Amino acid sequence: MSTENLTICWEKLDRLGAEVSKNLNLRKAFADDPARFARFQVTQDDLFIDYSKNLITDDVMAALRELAETANVENWRERMFAGDRINITENRAVLHTALRNLDGNPVMVDGKDVMPDVKDVLVRMKRFAARVHTGDWKGHTGKAITDVVNIGIGGSDLGPVMVNEALRPYHIDGIRCHFVSNVDGAHIVDTLKDLDAETTLFIIASKTFTTDETLTNAYSARDWLVGLLKDEGAVAKHFVAVSTALDKVAEFGIDTNNAFGFWDWVGGRYSLWSAIGLPIILAVGYEKFEELLRGAQAMDNHFRSAPLDRNIPVTLALIGVWYRNVLGASSQAILPYDQHLSRLPAYLQQADMESNGKSVTRDGKPIYYETGPIIWGEPGTNGQHAFYQLIHQGTELIPVDFIVAANALNPLANHHDKLVANCFAQAEALMRGKTEAEVRDELAGGNLTPAEIDVLAPQKIFAGNKPSTMILYKQLDPFTLGRLVAMYEHKIFVQGIIWNVNSYDQWGVELGKQLAKELLPMVQGNETADSRDASTAGLIHQLHALRG
Ligand code: F6P
Repeated sequence: MSTENLTICWEKLDRLGAEVSKNLNLRKAFADDPARFARFQVTQDDLFIDYSKNLITDDVMAALRELAETANVENWRERMFAGDRINITENRAVLHTALRNLDGNPVMVDGKDVMPDVKDVLVRMKRFAARVHTGDWKGHTGKAITDVVNIGIGGSDLGPVMVNEALRPYHIDGIRCHFVSNVDGAHIVDTLKDLDAETTLFIIASKTFTTDETLTNAYSARDWLVGLLKDEGAVAKHFVAVSTALDKVAEFGIDTNNAFGFWDWVGGRYSLWSAIGLPIILAVGYEKFEELLRGAQAMDNHFRSAPLDRNIPVTLALIGVWYRNVLGASSQAILPYDQHLSRLPAYLQQADMESNGKSVTRDGKPIYYETGPIIWGEPGTNGQHAFYQLIHQGTELIPVDFIVAANALNPLANHHDKLVANCFAQAEALMRGKTEAEVRDELAGGNLTPAEIDVLAPQKIFAGNKPSTMILYKQLDPFTLGRLVAMYEHKIFVQGIIWNVNSYDQWGVELGKQLAKELLPMVQGNETADSRDASTAGLIHQLHALRG
């Protein structure tokens, strides 16, 4: 990639940015151009992305695609799929795509095809889940399992939590999945309160099997179980593990026959497709998990084969780059109109912010442009009654992804029609706004005096011209969920390439972990805090004062 050519691309985009900021009015753009909707859409089967309500023109999209070409996105994409060690700081391949390459070609890492191992773990998980579902897997006292508690954090939690919630209509009767992540004891205490040790199975999920929160919760879970069943031997029937570090699993005391492995080429935040998905299989059954994988595989194939102008992840990524680097947006809202996607924003926070929250280039040079945005959101319609005010009338530019299914899985009276109407209405309202003339017209129909109208009118104006993308599909089944998640994974990948960051490491989480270890003995009163900065030392003294 030539820096000079990239500079030319960015200069062009900056010029277009100035032009768009000054001249583009979306309401007018739709009125003037009946083909705008048809031109700015990308699809994959029933997955339909309308990006016509964004602050873009044909020239902008062409310039963004030129940027993608100049940044060699397609070449990097092939390197990722081929197992090149593109995670350079950890010297690892990035191959979560191999986990859903169910009927594809061999995938080679260090001269070895990884697919037989991938398939072997899938078969083992399938068998294990079938034993749990049929009651063949018995707890220590001979009872079948009714409750599964996944103990993990970050990528070993957020994916399964999100999918478990998203696929609620597919849950198998008789098994409930719970998730414990926080080292705050309240999380595990609240979760275990209503569970029966005899029928509870713990999955200890940790890629590294060194994460303090997970191990702390795992030891507390073991104490709880052994305390209630009064036998250390009970652990074997109630604990399984998911990890890349099977030696550490054994050290913890879990039989490695009851452990499901994955590999260092699966990043934590890209791991729900691996054995980390075990709680998903237990919740919805292996077949549905495979449908999820097949959905992701379909998106992988689309990402690899669709030309840039019809490529969904590329298009979403480029629009994101446009807002972040040219129009100055600092965040991206993810607003699913689907209660079952309530954890998707949190999931994407890790996927995106841990991947692209970087300020040095792949070769370690400081970055002077914006990289990953803040990702946030809540399901609609709830958000409408909370933070949408700021999106409509605040001073921040906040691009929005609306996500909605055409059909409800649990149709109930006219709920789904109202949900969809609200979703489309918000996108329309953001785009159109309401002019002063429209506001005054409306107010004139009431009982207000002209002076009262003068006071009220400015408050009721909506500037409009607020961008959004509509992601619409037939229904939220496992296949579509797989497509959606893979779509965002690849969007993040493309943006990482354009920003020239390594999207697959996360050194930024290390310092806090290191300092927490140092502070623990001070919090416990076993060491003095005098060596710390005045604020930290003062807080520790205050903590002890409050503890009495
Ligand atoms: O602290 C960040 C992180 O390393 C994430 O990237 C990861 O998903 C999470 O911790 C959990 O790590 P592990 O699966 O190794 O316990």
